Amino acid sequence: MARAATDLQQLAREHLWMHFTRMGGYGDDEVPIIVRGDGCYLEDANGNRYLDALAGLFSVNIGYGFGEEIGQAALEQMRELPFYTNWSYAHPRAIELAAEVASLAPGELNRVFFVSGGSEAVEAAWKLARQYYVARGEKRLHAAVAEPETRHDVLAAGSRTLPRRTKAIARHVAYHGTTFGALSLNGIPALRMPFEPLVPEVRHVRNTNRYHRPSEETEEEFTRFLLDDLEQTILAMGPETVCLVHMEPVQNAGGCFTPPAGYWQGVRALCDEYDILLSADEVITGFGRLGYWFGSERYDIRPDIITCAKGLSSSYASIGAVIATDRVMEPFLEATSMYAHGITFGGHPVMCAIALKNIEIMKRERVIENVQENEVAFKAKLETLLDLPIVGDVRGTGFFWALELVKDKETRETFTDEECDTLLRDFLSPALYDAGLICRTDDRGDPVIQISPPLVAGETEIDEIVSKLGDVLVQAWERMGS
Ligand SMILES: Cc1ncc(COP(=O)(O)O)c(C=O)c1O
Repeated sequence: MARAATDLQQLAREHLWMHFTRMGGYGDDEVPIIVRGDGCYLEDANGNRYLDALAGLFSVNIGYGFGEEIGQAALEQMRELPFYTNWSYAHPRAIELAAEVASLAPGELNRVFFVSGGSEAVEAAWKLARQYYVARGEKRLHAAVAEPETRHDVLAAGSRTLPRRTKAIARHVAYHGTTFGALSLNGIPALRMPFEPLVPEVRHVRNTNRYHRPSEETEEEFTRFLLDDLEQTILAMGPETVCLVHMEPVQNAGGCFTPPAGYWQGVRALCDEYDILLSADEVITGFGRLGYWFGSERYDIRPDIITCAKGLSSSYASIGAVIATDRVMEPFLEATSMYAHGITFGGHPVMCAIALKNIEIMKRERVIENVQENEVAFKAKLETLLDLPIVGDVRGTGFFWALELVKDKETRETFTDEECDTLLRDFLSPALYDAGLICRTDDRGDPVIQISPPLVAGETEIDEIVSKLGDVLVQAWERMGS
């Protein structure tokens, strides 16, 4: 039986611990409780309606309207086989989904390892990279026993020696998840600090934020500048100790940093030169957000590994995946070789059935085509907001956009930490929500509003997003001015 909104409020306050949430903030304020969704819209426990311009968390790619159809696929799978594991066994849905994902992924990315979500995918990618070089036969740093002869010697050597290539490179301000490995890749000091010491060793290189670069710098110079930084970092770490470069095709945290021309080709070339695996974190960009099945295709990244999750099932299920190339898989195909990693729910049959149905719906409903058909108009409409004094930059691609908010458009001066708190937390977040628009205000880098609606949104929803944003940003400027 459905509980009354007041009961839910009470129970939420007493028992629910929300993620990344200042729980003390709900002393007087109501906990926002979302009770249903349809298309691009959500409804809360008080009957208010919201346009979800964030698609859950950059993730409900087909929108909220396919519960019946996906539910039916889940029910059929529950009847047939509610659970079995991918540890040493296969089952039809995991096999079918692996083949489907491999067919959508670009190039030689043909091998799929399932996990439960984005952090687990990133975690698994770094572990895979570490083990790849060992499996390939690369020498270890400290050989503990000279020539192992017995099985015991081999195990002893394995436990007392370190793989040579263990380090990873990611970018400043990037978000890659919260489990220890993924957290260590994060380039957001405030998220890392409470949990240090983290997994050694990650260094962060410059991201592709162009907005605060010198105005006279050409795109080519910018690309060179970024690639020099990456190469210097590889050299400083010791190229023979680095196993992974892990980056998003378009970086989310900091606000949709798109790559300058030649950037990905340069990153790929450096990874080739120093024999480092390149991993594209497509937890957000995978499955259509940039108007392609994968952002790697959009930018011709040619990664060795892709991590994905959210859009794989449009978040109707908790499933993610690591997709590896034939080259990465090769050493693991040796008779005695094994990627020493697994989790109970990786490749859960019901989650796989849901993801398969999601992909079927995405194809049938022409979801990727919808992004391509609407992205130019979406960009143009968002750019009308540049007329407002508070909007310094509009950037992104596909259905993945950010507005950077500034104090002074001429100088591109940003708000202080205190001002950001007032602007984003005290005013914009609640004001947008009250206006019936869910999007995200973020100051992990400079202050931005992130816009990332379901990929089924059309002209009506785009107009509503832009109009509501405009109204609230006018009020925000008045408020900050005073
Ligand atoms: C790029 C990227 N990688 C990894 C993650 C972690 O995914 P999850 O929250 O499913 O663990 C996220 C989450 O937003 C993400 O945006």
